[in-house]
Amino acid sequence: MRPADRQPVCRSKRRCLAHEPEKRRPVCPHRIQPLLDRARPLRAEALPSAMTSRRISRCPPEGCALRQIQAASTFRAGMVCGLHSRAEPEGDDPTQLCRARCAASAARARASAPTRPPSSQPDERQESEAMHSIQQYLSSPAFDLPADLLPKTPWNRPFRRQDLGSVDLLGPLAARELSTNRSLAIHRILLNIYEQSMLFLPQRRFESHDLPSFRAFYDPDNVALGQSNRVALERAAFSFLDDHEIKVTGRWEWEHLEQYFLGVIERYEEEPCSLTARIDALDSPTTAYRYLLIQQASDFLSEASAMGRAMLGSFGATQSELMKVFIDEYGYGVHDRKHSTLFERCCSSVGLDPEPHRYYFHYLPSSIALTNYFHHVCSNKHLWFRYLGALYYTEASIPHFNKALSRALRKAFEGAGVDTRYFDEHVHIDQHHRRMVLDDVIRPTIALCGAQVIPEMVIGFESFRLLQSLADRDCLEQLAFVEDLERSRKGGFKVARRAYEAVDAPLAFSEPKGEISYSHIHDHDELFTVELGSMEFFAGITPVVLEAGDSIIIPAGRLHGSRVINEPCTYRVQKVRRR
Ligand SMILES: [Fe+2]
Ligand SMILES: [Fe+2]
Ligand SMILES: [Fe+2]
Repeated sequence: MRPADRQPVCRSKRRCLAHEPEKRRPVCPHRIQPLLDRARPLRAEALPSAMTSRRISRCPPEGCALRQIQAASTFRAGMVCGLHSRAEPEGDDPTQLCRARCAASAARARASAPTRPPSSQPDERQESEAMHSIQQYLSSPAFDLPADLLPKTPWNRPFRRQDLGSVDLLGPLAARELSTNRSLAIHRILLNIYEQSMLFLPQRRFESHDLPSFRAFYDPDNVALGQSNRVALERAAFSFLDDHEIKVTGRWEWEHLEQYFLGVIERYEEEPCSLTARIDALDSPTTAYRYLLIQQASDFLSEASAMGRAMLGSFGATQSELMKVFIDEYGYGVHDRKHSTLFERCCSSVGLDPEPHRYYFHYLPSSIALTNYFHHVCSNKHLWFRYLGALYYTEASIPHFNKALSRALRKAFEGAGVDTRYFDEHVHIDQHHRRMVLDDVIRPTIALCGAQVIPEMVIGFESFRLLQSLADRDCLEQLAFVEDLERSRKGGFKVARRAYEAVDAPLAFSEPKGEISYSHIHDHDELFTVELGSMEFFAGITPVVLEAGDSIIIPAGRLHGSRVINEPCTYRVQKVRRR
């Protein structure tokens, strides 16, 4: 399968429900989160960047009776815009009103797509040197494609080097590009750069063949090379958040921040969890929940490691307060109570291997981005105040989400002995953590550093909130693709070809038995047909077997890979689009 080589095209026929913030009545920020939750799954590549942007400002006192803070925000395409339906006078069709505004708003925002700030625009020579340096970094055996699709060591981090010619690793990603091959490549590299400063040892006997992999991953020259490219890759990965998506304006004091944070979380908790509700409605919730756990595993199996970076140095009493949260994450030194240990038990109880990164193949770029964001704000000390905002969002939103997930897991795996202690523990402990972070860390930090640091805290809070909602949506889209494949299998892998038109000529490939096409993403829909032999095709954890004559559509933005099981395997791919 070929690497993605084209930019995504918005083919969404869904309503565009963003709006012009300056024209509507001030609305309390409490109302934002429920809208996010009601958002229908949407292909991220079809997501105009502008649809995710948020401008957050303090409103005039009369503007918002409840909180005196206005979040003037635009919303994602495809959302049910409850905000407008509440804000508009009775009798009007709020979605119509909203749609008209959205068109203008979206057009304006598209015209101002993210660009690199002049100060950070490298010249061509610098860029080609950086690309060369990244290529050198990726030439380490740590990034070799594996003989086994799911390697049993935590140090083999496969990278599709053949993609290097077609992906721009240095240009800034837009929010709509989070589910692209470019994003996948950038976030995979960044994750490894961060994790080369963390120790991973398998929980089994160290075998003789482990040592070369261990040494390759932690090779000091390669680690240094990775670090030398970290900032450029971070800029590519995250600059969209502050360059384009989130703006904080107005004068903020501690009271406003507290009201804003509490308000967002309060509204979030008023609504049922949309992610678990959508998964429950799928044909196979157990398969889907296993897949969700795999996405979480990229972070939870080494939970709070990024926070470890935040603990170093000397920053007064808040350091000690933060340490209390940190040691809770590590179970106060009791291995059985360590949060990552609890997550391991959960994985094992549903038949998943709890070794870190066993399912690296299946990580969606948006899931890796969540892990990377915390490493990013913890590794770069100038982003300290953003870290505190992001930390508060995660600690504060977890109890509600984990309560729903724990309940959903018990229902889906009824009678199968699912271990939900990881999630139950967080329902309890993060009630404390969110209070501790807000009252004992954030508040004293503002008292010490002044209100000038508050906008950064809001950016961190909103950045992680946005990344989390995009990741949820990405996961749901992937699960929908997995279900489509299963339905297609039952129907004999036939594609209604009249529903599609070709974008270019088909290309044929022939591969030997055992050949692995490591997981990747296309920016276009692809008609995929096996002509000879057979292969396992992976989108979810369990592959479907495609044989001669079978055809599927691989939608743009969906992670997939394959392994030839019967040679010679010849297959044909063709870019297509829906008529
Ligand atoms: Fe492919
Ligand atoms: Fe935790
Ligand atoms: Fe926590």
